[in-house]
Amino acid sequence: MSPADKSPKSSAPTSDERVLTNRQGHPVVNNQSQRTVGSRGPATLENYQFLEKISHFDRERIPERVVHARGFVAYGDFEATGKIGDEPASKYTRAKLFQEAGKKTPLAIRFSTVIGGRDSSETARDPRGFAVKFYTEDGNWDLVGNNLAVFFIRDAIKFPDVIHSLKPDPVTFRQEPNRIFDFMSQTPEAMHMLTHLFSPRGIPANYRHMEGFGVNTYKMVNAEGNTVLVKYHFHPREGVASLTADEAAKVQGQDLGSASKDLYTAIETGNYPQWDMYVQVMEDHEHPELDWDPLDDTKIWPEKDFPLLHVGTMTLNRNVEDFFNENEQIAMGTGVLVDGLDFSDDKMLIGRTFSYSDTQRYRVGPNYLQLPVNQAKQARVATNQSGGQMSYYRDAAPGQNPHVNYEPSIHDGLTEAPREENNNPPEVRGQLTRSVIERRNDYVQPRARFCTMMQWERDDLVNNMGTMLADCERDVQERMVWHFLMVHDEFGNRVGEMIGISAADVANLGPLPKQVLTEEDQRRMKSLG
Ligand code: HEM
Repeated sequence: MSPADKSPKSSAPTSDERVLTNRQGHPVVNNQSQRTVGSRGPATLENYQFLEKISHFDRERIPERVVHARGFVAYGDFEATGKIGDEPASKYTRAKLFQEAGKKTPLAIRFSTVIGGRDSSETARDPRGFAVKFYTEDGNWDLVGNNLAVFFIRDAIKFPDVIHSLKPDPVTFRQEPNRIFDFMSQTPEAMHMLTHLFSPRGIPANYRHMEGFGVNTYKMVNAEGNTVLVKYHFHPREGVASLTADEAAKVQGQDLGSASKDLYTAIETGNYPQWDMYVQVMEDHEHPELDWDPLDDTKIWPEKDFPLLHVGTMTLNRNVEDFFNENEQIAMGTGVLVDGLDFSDDKMLIGRTFSYSDTQRYRVGPNYLQLPVNQAKQARVATNQSGGQMSYYRDAAPGQNPHVNYEPSIHDGLTEAPREENNNPPEVRGQLTRSVIERRNDYVQPRARFCTMMQWERDDLVNNMGTMLADCERDVQERMVWHFLMVHDEFGNRVGEMIGISAADVANLGPLPKQVLTEEDQRRMKSLG
């Protein structure tokens, strides 16, 4: 029996089965006292039972995730509609999990906060992770998303910087608004994410009442090898609920783990949360007609132009049995795709794809994919990989010659799959460069978002932003007010009022070095004076 098959017995253990042992299978006859010379010591070194117990305890923690350290896992399934909107799913993708109506694929999901450590508050103003591992018959598919539709940056090379600015100060170990907004003030593409994060949506009430977004742009591939660009969305059936800053402070004063508790309790009491899953699709090319780039994760795809197409429903119905094994050791990444789903050239997505498995080899170990929660559950695994710390079995095929851990071989080794790896591969040409995508338009979508907000939502956004900016230095405050004025007059003027900065005070700042302004941006900038 593989460790993955071990589920607890429903009947209570017998008295023999309850006897405590060490991991060598030796019964423990005294778990209260070390072995000592006489009752007052000294202790002896050939104290195997004590040494094994204490030295395992010394190693009980593994490094926490560098981001998304606090989280909670649940299990369930995804039930497909067999369609993508009104069309058969096969029109867009050959991925098996989407093909038949009613087909169920088991999954694990990990919700998380981003910036705090493993024991930090679950009611912080912070994006929430929404990472799903589908155990499909084609092997695992990880969709590692967030509860907000966009992100702060559009190039993975900036990720360590944005995270350093949001993490505690390396000297004071406090999250410092001045460091956060020092970075953001030099990062115009972050304005859209900031209007989400500081809006009422910035503190989800719990994990059950929030949306999920893949955020980055992926591709779907059909049987003919034709591709479309795709974005993924999850909508909670129970609706979206959030906390104000004051409400969050009260919850946090009582309980740092309120969201985990809410999810665990809902599942234990049979109140299984559900999300509808949708995709947006667009033809796979650059779309010069749009004033934004489909590969830019600081942008949404407007739903009126790219409607949400229903693909299925996710239900969570089982809790973890062991938090460490299943939550701390689960490992998801954007590189984990199945046949029929593919990457796009989104520069964040490509960078993420390296980062996840790299950190997991460090955080969990090189054999992290052999752990039960990470194993493919519905697909066979047969590799020639072996060795490394904590290796405990070979991923060999049944009957495979155990001497052959290489390929090709004429002596019963593993062989390549017959399928064509990629029919219709894209042709890539271009000069190597380090540059920013052309269609940036960093203020258009945050402006559109601000315009659709109700007055109470604008009030909350302004208040949350102004309160945090009040703790920043004047030069950082001025640049942030300048950006907000470029987004919308009301946004900039009202945040400015809270911290004593007027449009006239920032009129002469001009654009950032290398910042490209649209005609509309230039008109707005001129109107400041
Ligand atoms: C976790 C890197 C952007 C969602 C992580 C981890 C790393 C990382 C190193 C820790 C993984 C682990 O220890 O298992 C990056 C990089 C990014 C990026 C380099 C940008 C280039 C994003 C974006 C999203 C996202 C845009 C949302 C769409 C998540 C989630 C987790 C995570 C949900 C937690 C996964 C889990 O629950 O185990 N990221 N990330 N990340 N990231 Fe990212």
